[in-house]
Order: sequence, then structure tokens, then C-alpha cells
Amino acid sequence: MTRTDTELATAMCQDPTRRALILTALATGACLASSSPCIAEEDLPGSNERPQKGDVLVFAEGDRAGEVIKPQDLQAGGPPVRAWPKDPKTSVVRKGSRLNEVLVVKLEPAELDEETRSRAAGGVVAYSAICVHTGCPITAWVKAAGGDKDVFKCVCHNSEYDPRQGAQVVFGPAPRRLPALPLAMDDGSLTVAATFIGKVGAQQAR
Ligand code: FES
Repeated sequence: MTRTDTELATAMCQDPTRRALILTALATGACLASSSPCIAEEDLPGSNERPQKGDVLVFAEGDRAGEVIKPQDLQAGGPPVRAWPKDPKTSVVRKGSRLNEVLVVKLEPAELDEETRSRAAGGVVAYSAICVHTGCPITAWVKAAGGDKDVFKCVCHNSEYDPRQGAQVVFGPAPRRLPALPLAMDDGSLTVAATFIGKVGAQQAR
């Protein structure tokens, strides 16, 4: 019995180096059409666009990677979770650019300054996960060097950012605060209310 186009296309998609990158929603169409190559998730239209108003946030890692984040999934007072924005209309997760990764943390609303509270959803705030010093990912949630509150810390050169105060720099060489991603609540889920405030990533020229 000869292999059908469908079987051949399916076999292509079983290449282990590519399989994990195939978007579920497009897998059928992309892989079952014999003339279409498998499409890496990072290559999908919109995957490298910055977060857009109306996007939902999904877990970037762990057992629940890809699941939509709800406020009750977050531990009050931190630690933050890493997240990707996802277009709910196309189901494209915007992980095509590392600059789209965000840190999401639930804090006591009374602890937030006024501006930060205006961008929060039920005490949940989100910021770019990329340090603005030289672009390392921010990986730590630790007691501030100059206080007793937990803050974001970039361990590359020890910059610290306080998420209660718009992620302003409270220690280290970072030249400016982290870009904030305003949030809203829609039907019990966190959604993006507006694009990043500020330039994401390290600024080469200032
Ligand atoms: S890259 Fe983060 S402190 Fe230097």
C-alpha cells in the first residue's frame, strides 16, 4: 500500500525537533496539506508582535504552560509567574520574540502607588521580563537590597525593580524602570488593556 499525502505530511510533522513547535490550531491544516511545510509556532503571523489590547496571558513554563492565567492562579504577594501574551482570536501565543515575555505578580492593592494601581487588575500587575540594562531575563524575586520587600531582581548585574512603584529601579545599574503592561479583567481572566508603556529590552543608545 502506498503512503498517502496525508501520511507523508503527518510523518514530516513527527520530526521530534519540529513537533513541539507546531501550533495545535494549525497543525491539522499545515501538516495535512501535502504542499504545506510544518510551521514553527514562532513563525506564525503575530507571534512576534508586541502584546495587544485584548490579549490573554498564558503560563510560559511549567506543568500549565500554555494555559490562560486567572487571578486565582497567582499567589498573593508573589512570586511572579512568567507569561506570554496570546491572541484569543487566532490562538497565536506571541512567543516569537523574547521581548514579549512578561512577569505577572499579584500584590496587595493598597501597596501599589496610584499609577501602578491604575494599570493593575485586582492587584495583579505585569511588566516586561527583560532587564533594560543589557537585556538579560529577570529571574529572581528576592528581598530588596535596601528594604524588606520582595522585588524583581536581574542577577546579571543585580538590578532590582519594585513592582509596587511601576517597577522603578531600586538598586543596581539599570537606567530606567521596566516597561509596564496594563491589565484588565474580562470574564474572570486577565487581559492586556494596552500596549507596553516604555521601550522593551535594553536601550543601546540613550
Ligand atoms: S542586564 Fe540586568 S542588571 Fe545588567
